[in-house]
Amino acid sequence: MIGELRERLESLRREVERELEAADEPPRVEEIRVRILGRKGALTAEAKAIGALPVGERPGAGELVNAVKDALEAAIAAREVALAGGALARRLEAEALDVTLPGRRRGQGTRHPLSLVTAELLDVFRRMGFSVARGPEVETLWHNFEALNIPAGHPAREEMDTIYLAGRDLLLRTHTSPVQIRAMESQDPPVRVVCPGRVFRSDTPDASHSPYFHQIEGLWVDEGISLAHLKWALVEFVHQYFGPDVDTRFRPSYFPFTEPSGELDMQCLLCRGAGCRTCKGTGWLELLGCGMVHPAVLEAVGWDSERFTGFAWGMGIERVTMLKYGVPDIRMFFENDVHFLHQFEGR
Ligand code: DAH
Repeated sequence: MIGELRERLESLRREVERELEAADEPPRVEEIRVRILGRKGALTAEAKAIGALPVGERPGAGELVNAVKDALEAAIAAREVALAGGALARRLEAEALDVTLPGRRRGQGTRHPLSLVTAELLDVFRRMGFSVARGPEVETLWHNFEALNIPAGHPAREEMDTIYLAGRDLLLRTHTSPVQIRAMESQDPPVRVVCPGRVFRSDTPDASHSPYFHQIEGLWVDEGISLAHLKWALVEFVHQYFGPDVDTRFRPSYFPFTEPSGELDMQCLLCRGAGCRTCKGTGWLELLGCGMVHPAVLEAVGWDSERFTGFAWGMGIERVTMLKYGVPDIRMFFENDVHFLHQFEGR
């Protein structure tokens, strides 16, 4: 009898131990405990059955049952501890904070190269006593053309084709020269202003053309202003902005709103005048248009052209930026490619 009991208990123990090993969650272990050690459990039933044995066999049977019970209780407790430890380890791993991860950088913008160069140019001219004036991008025909001595049918209008606002005398301004007119309309002489801003033309984009670009205009009108003032201001500008050793030259040219008119070239910065691809072998780069304000322009705003004279100029900000920083294609300013734009960081 005792022998049979021993065998049953042994196989029960082995089986429970196998089950415990397979139990991978605390509720499974609890289920095993109830099934074996609970009030109606398998081992509890064996303990109860001892009472039915002959008196002489009872102590031995009791010892056997108790030994297996102790062993299983210990095995269950050990499994519970192991599972709890594993769960904690998993949780720690899942919730781990890797303090060695690099932080997330907040993308910080940089000043656009055109804003940067505009500020640099305004700085140079402010130091020469110019103040800053601005005008609207949607302009009247009067300010953009007529007051600038460009009447309807003038060939200059064709060169400056733009978008007209239907049924009204309004257009997207083709140059910053209308701001000259606005500056003179809004005050009495003298005037000494620079006017930065965006302009529009019906140009097909390529490496040097864009249907929108930026100009900076200058105007200085007073009694006794001569071509000498013009030359001083513009050569001084080139020397301050591009370097004191950069050579310059004036070429005669034509603009309806100046007489005489000229264009200012500066020495090619890349080859220093020797001739290269950038300057097409000439050694010179065209920089701006300029001239003495045409009497008709002064008369258009009601200023006495016998008493007052002045000079004006206009230049492209993209062009200046391309020359100053070696940018090969005007379209790069408008593509919003941060790899390009960030190169001007910290300037
Ligand atoms: N407005 C001219 C253009 O867009 C540039 C220019 C030339 C402006 C001569 C001037 C000037 O003020 O005097 O081509």
